[in-house]
Amino acid sequence: MPEEMTNTALIPDFGKTVVAWQRRHGRNTLPWQNTRDPYRVWLSEVMLQQTQVTTVLGYYERFLARWPRVTDLAAATLDEVLAQWAGLGYYSRARNLYNCARAVAELHGGEFPRTAAGLQTLPGIGRSTAAAIAAFCFGERVAILDGNVKRVLGRVLAFDGDLSSSAAEKKLWDRATELLPQQDVARYTQGLMDLGATVCTARSPDCLLCPVQPMCRGQHEGDPTRYPIKTKKLKRGRRENWWLWVEQPEGQVLLQQRPATGVWAGLWTLPMFDDEAGARAALPDVALETLPRIQHALTHFDWVLHTLRAEAPRGNLQGFGSGTWVAREKLANYALPAPLKKLIEES
Ligand code: ADE
Repeated sequence: MPEEMTNTALIPDFGKTVVAWQRRHGRNTLPWQNTRDPYRVWLSEVMLQQTQVTTVLGYYERFLARWPRVTDLAAATLDEVLAQWAGLGYYSRARNLYNCARAVAELHGGEFPRTAAGLQTLPGIGRSTAAAIAAFCFGERVAILDGNVKRVLGRVLAFDGDLSSSAAEKKLWDRATELLPQQDVARYTQGLMDLGATVCTARSPDCLLCPVQPMCRGQHEGDPTRYPIKTKKLKRGRRENWWLWVEQPEGQVLLQQRPATGVWAGLWTLPMFDDEAGARAALPDVALETLPRIQHALTHFDWVLHTLRAEAPRGNLQGFGSGTWVAREKLANYALPAPLKKLIEES
């Protein structure tokens, strides 16, 4: 489709239609809705960046119960925040969350900035998250463009730019801004999110239920799933590692903290080795039980994790370098990655 056809002026009433649909058919009772408290909205938006609503619900309630205000969160330690975050994944979000709370407390007197531009200066708040908070809390007329919304707008506009390129992405931001309704921007913003999550889904959009189907150019062309166009495919790798689960008879488990950068940065795991021989060499002459292997998919690679389990031998454990013995009932205080938490709970 030629560029000029992606002109948003050809789609009258888009905003009004989305707003009316959201009122009747959108999600209106989620715990972070019906509030204008930027702390609550910000917390939910960061958690929802890469995680489904059903997973976020429990975490959201626990965070708020423990840290009711942004200044409470700022007064926590990073380890406490990571432990509470454990299982949500994408842990740089937790670090940014904490740094953002501290910045709000220390640089902004405990109050979030009240504009998208101001919010965007804070750690972990990108353009779309800033806009969502500003629209929901302060009614600012500003566009969001997260992954779901790129899909919805890409299809409605039959946007033929390649979103791997920043020039095309910038154009879509401009279109998103042109499409904003004059009023009800908060509801419109929620409506776009709801459409993306419940109707205009990635693989099987439910066009029959879609309120903007009559104005959707992707649908008129016959195959809305062609859009948005993204040519750069993620190259996925594969990794394999061995965990050594060493446990004392009274139930103390040896944990090590991951480095501050990279996968699972700062989280606690069993001692990890690059190959089986390395793991066995750390505990020579000790019987090791082989547990079922774990497959864990991360954004950039599939991870195969083998686990060898042993009772802790008497004597020193120098093969491990650093490490901390943690009683099973204290494990909840440590930020464990989700597959390890599951492994320990089920074994
Ligand atoms: N995903 C991102 N923000 C959301 C919100 N406010 N409600 C539901 N899902 C979301």
